[in-house]
Amino acid sequence: MVTYDEVNEILISEDEIRSKITELGKKISEDYRGKNLILIGILRGAVIFMADLARAISIPMLFDFIAISSYGAETKSSGVVRILKDLDVNIEGKDVLIIEDIVDTGLTLDYLLRMLKSRKPASVKVCTFLTKSARRKVDITVDYFGFDIPNKFVVGYGLDYAGKYRNVPYVFTLNPEYISD
Ligand code: IMP
Ligand code: MG
Repeated sequence: MVTYDEVNEILISEDEIRSKITELGKKISEDYRGKNLILIGILRGAVIFMADLARAISIPMLFDFIAISSYGAETKSSGVVRILKDLDVNIEGKDVLIIEDIVDTGLTLDYLLRMLKSRKPASVKVCTFLTKSARRKVDITVDYFGFDIPNKFVVGYGLDYAGKYRNVPYVFTLNPEYISD
């Protein structure tokens, strides 16, 4: 799946991920009991996290996906977002929980939050697998998160470098010789 050479440091193991997701699923199930929960996954990074999280949630819910692309360099965020695939479901009156792989500067999410709020959902909250809270450039509320990580570029469990490593079941940093900058 990934060679020993490519892995620099494993930051979050499969076991840590599994127990964190159980905990998040319980919390979300309690908080959203009796509500109209819809998970909105941001393609493609959030797919792995959302698949596991959805199965840890024990209340009725819908899910849908949105695909966005930020302009500019792959590893930097400009906050200017283009919608590649919009939602299929009308979210008016629903309790939206946005599912992200990672919130870094927060610019992508800030844009998306404003766009989704204009569609009159009953509520909008954010659940991200990873957050780099020290890197935030805009003041957004992350309602649920798995792990707050230091300012390192990480891959695995949905997160990619040039499209690779999303399928690796743990989170790790890449050895520098595998990063072409
Ligand atoms: P933001 O607008 O700066 O919050 O950008 C968040 C997006 O940048 C994420 O959805 C990822 O696509 C990407 N990103 C930020 N940090 C990392 C990382 O460490 N690994 C992989 N992708 C990252
Ligand atoms: Mg992303």
